[in-house]
Amino acid sequence: MNILVTGGAGFIGANFVYYELENHPDDRIVCLDKLTYAGNLQTLDKAMTNPNFRFVKGDIADRDCVFPLFEEEKFDIVVNFAAESHVDRSVENPEIFLKTNILGTQVLMDACRKYGIKRYHQVSTDEVYGDLPLDRPDLFFTEETPIHTSSPYSASKASADLLVLAYARTFKLPVSITRCSNNYGPYHFPEKLIPLMISRALAEESLPVYGKGENVRDWLYVEDHCAAIDLVIRKGREGEVYNIGGHNERTNLQVVKTILNLLDKSEDLITYVTDRPGHDMRYAIDPTKIHNELGWLPRTTFDEGIKRTIQWYLDNESWWKNILEGDYQSYYERMYKDR
Ligand code: NAD
Ligand code: TYD
Repeated sequence: MNILVTGGAGFIGANFVYYELENHPDDRIVCLDKLTYAGNLQTLDKAMTNPNFRFVKGDIADRDCVFPLFEEEKFDIVVNFAAESHVDRSVENPEIFLKTNILGTQVLMDACRKYGIKRYHQVSTDEVYGDLPLDRPDLFFTEETPIHTSSPYSASKASADLLVLAYARTFKLPVSITRCSNNYGPYHFPEKLIPLMISRALAEESLPVYGKGENVRDWLYVEDHCAAIDLVIRKGREGEVYNIGGHNERTNLQVVKTILNLLDKSEDLITYVTDRPGHDMRYAIDPTKIHNELGWLPRTTFDEGIKRTIQWYLDNESWWKNILEGDYQSYYERMYKDR
């Protein structure tokens, strides 16, 4: 199989590249990535030495880049991770989210139509379902839950999902979609909750918790997400949506306190800051479909995964310190100053 992984220099895409190279050593993986602020070639250092891996720098929304690559490589499978992925950035500037997340998806699928493909897979998010109330712990997102978005990020992801399903129906494109809950693990960019809190706690800097820290996220270790996508692209049914999540709900405050506790740092570092506008209260996935159809179950508990993640950040300080030294500082100032 020749597999195109877009966005493979980012957090989940890179973990997926490594998962595929290890579990399917006969497959060829081509990574197409624009190397935005979130993409990091250093992350792919180990893959670069594998003869079955090729990296191409380019924009999924650029036809002049995408079409010749499809013509040359004759891909069997496309897995689209490439996206603008941070909710707070989408509040600040929605436009690039629409361009990459929606138009980029369209360009990739047009290339699939022209050059032929066995499967186009869209990596989506549970955020397309909006949020659940805190006082109804019996409710979960299923694949039938209506799309009901809150942020420009989730609206762009939901738009892309609708376009993917439209291409399946109208053009008979063989597609699949997975909608996963919040991931954590190695190579996670330190603007997101868990790596942000780990890196700041290590530096004994204040930990900015939005609102009261009561919002709930359903955390999944990134390798479990990669295993689920791998199953869906090879064995999942065409035209189907699969939810991915492992029933690991935690409030943000619980997550932050767990990190502080494991690093033996004081809870006095926690600072409550102005809430995110439109902040979703609770995400919680019902993964029954992928479990029943494909036998997928998460392997890593939150307690185990968070320890492994913290250890990874301790062992790979240069990876995230390089990021903190770049444009990140002005990002942090802009987002958190006077908040
Ligand atoms: P990320 O921001 O860490 O990485 C995104 C990658 O895409 C980067 O390498 C970036 O350079 C690349 N990219 C951005 N725009 C591009 C473009 N126009 N052309 C080519 N490459 C481009 O994101 P992530 O957290 O790894 O998320 C990957 C995918 O998974 C996204 O589609 C996201 O919506 C989805 N998802 C993420 C989570 C999560 O918890 N992080 C959960 C569910 C779904
Ligand atoms: P994030 O990692 O941005 O993921 P998402 O918004 O896609 O769920 O945020 C996870 C939760 O943590 C979310 O409820 C917002 C909250 N949060 C903070 O409290 N402080 C922060 O500095 C960040 C980045 C997030």
